[in-house]
Amino acid sequence: MSNKAILEINGEKHELPTFTGSENEVAIDISSLRAVTKGVTTIDPGFKNTGSCVSEITFLDGEKGILRYRGYSIEELAEKADFLEVAYLLIFGELPTKEALDKFHADIKSESIVDDDIRKIIDAFPKSAHPMGVLSSLTSALTAFNPSSVNVDSEKDMYNSVVRILGKFPVLVAWAMRKKQGLPLDYGDNSLGYVENVLKMMFKQPNEEYVQNEVLVNALNKLLILHADHEQNCSTSTVRIVGSSHAGLFASISAGISALWGPLHGGANQAVLEMLEAIKEDGGDTKKYMAKAKDKSDPFRLMGFGHRVYKNFDPRAKIIKVTADEVLNDLGVEDPILDIAKGLEQEALTDAYFIDRKLYPNVDFYSGIIYRAMGIPVEMFTVMFALGRLPGWIGQWREMRLRKEPIGRPRQIYTGSTLRPFKSVAKK
Ligand code: CMC
Repeated sequence: MSNKAILEINGEKHELPTFTGSENEVAIDISSLRAVTKGVTTIDPGFKNTGSCVSEITFLDGEKGILRYRGYSIEELAEKADFLEVAYLLIFGELPTKEALDKFHADIKSESIVDDDIRKIIDAFPKSAHPMGVLSSLTSALTAFNPSSVNVDSEKDMYNSVVRILGKFPVLVAWAMRKKQGLPLDYGDNSLGYVENVLKMMFKQPNEEYVQNEVLVNALNKLLILHADHEQNCSTSTVRIVGSSHAGLFASISAGISALWGPLHGGANQAVLEMLEAIKEDGGDTKKYMAKAKDKSDPFRLMGFGHRVYKNFDPRAKIIKVTADEVLNDLGVEDPILDIAKGLEQEALTDAYFIDRKLYPNVDFYSGIIYRAMGIPVEMFTVMFALGRLPGWIGQWREMRLRKEPIGRPRQIYTGSTLRPFKSVAKK
């Protein structure tokens, strides 16, 4: 492969260097484009062809359905790893030793108290508030309570911010849910593992002892790992671009939470369950909804299907489908929604519209079924995605800071009016 690309424009040829990643992905380096062409730029809506950065964190091959964190396959990590181990791997680059993991966990635990004044902010929200809005606001508010987090040039302050947010985020997640349910807001139990603690904080009833269920612990551990990073998706790109202005970690992650909320991104898990419920209420006629999804005059899309990068099975969806079966069997839950989901999947996999467009079930198609079986309310599904994605956002933000990446500032092609004279309404 040649290590340069030739661009011909206005009768002039320009050489642009190419760059090859460790998995042989070739990129044309256009960083000199405007200089050598005297102002020509590129246009790529949705950044479908644009690499915004180089990164050593996550590799995914959408054609082959491969996903790896720092070189480790998602299948192996989901099977064998602990969420906190994966968090350490994503953030710091290598799997931790036992001592490093213990220290990391101890540092996180030492930050697991949220300033009590945060309760006053939660109290000001109406009960009807969507927990993603609450979570984004509270995460942003953490900066006010932890001002040193804005010092993004100090490695020490950066590390403190990392363990701080990993310690406080599960509390905010649990509080966002409990506020909606009218349950008292409480703290976790530092004698527990990270995932066990999340479950206890979410589900502990004030008048009962909380008993851990290993099936739920394993399922949540797996789901969090599967969501932990996905290279330059909408929310991660948001975190990196906000952080590129040297905004602090909490502000950057708060922006990422807002980006994740939308139904085309993390909000799809809630949308999938609402769609499956609607199909059930409507008599379970999956064919009717398949037809709606294919009808270009109908805005309906089959939620949980399709992906910007995967043009093959999303490897996370394969694992989650098996986990959904396991959890429902173990809990003895019979959910007609699961049958509708499987029916839709079967029809889509044999339908020319979906085959031609390479639309396969994505990570969100089955995750909501597991969350529902665990007793998590549907509006919390995207919050659970955010909890899983947190280490990925942190790792990507940290990588961007350590690489001293320039501020993200895309160009545009202006298509508005050219210069025109101002006419005052008053002087008419
Ligand atoms: N149902 C019906 N048609 C679809 C769907 C769908 N779910 N997804 C894509 N298409 C069609 C789309 O209409 C278009 O058809 P045509 O070529 O005839 O105009 C073609 O497939 C390509 O779609 P696109 O919107 O140009 O593709 P994209 O890469 O911009 O969008 C997507 C990717 C995920 C936003 C989209 O597939 C979608 O809206 N899916 C449903 C929402 C969803 O499940 N999102 C979760 C994504 S995975 C979790 C995450 O990482 O956030």
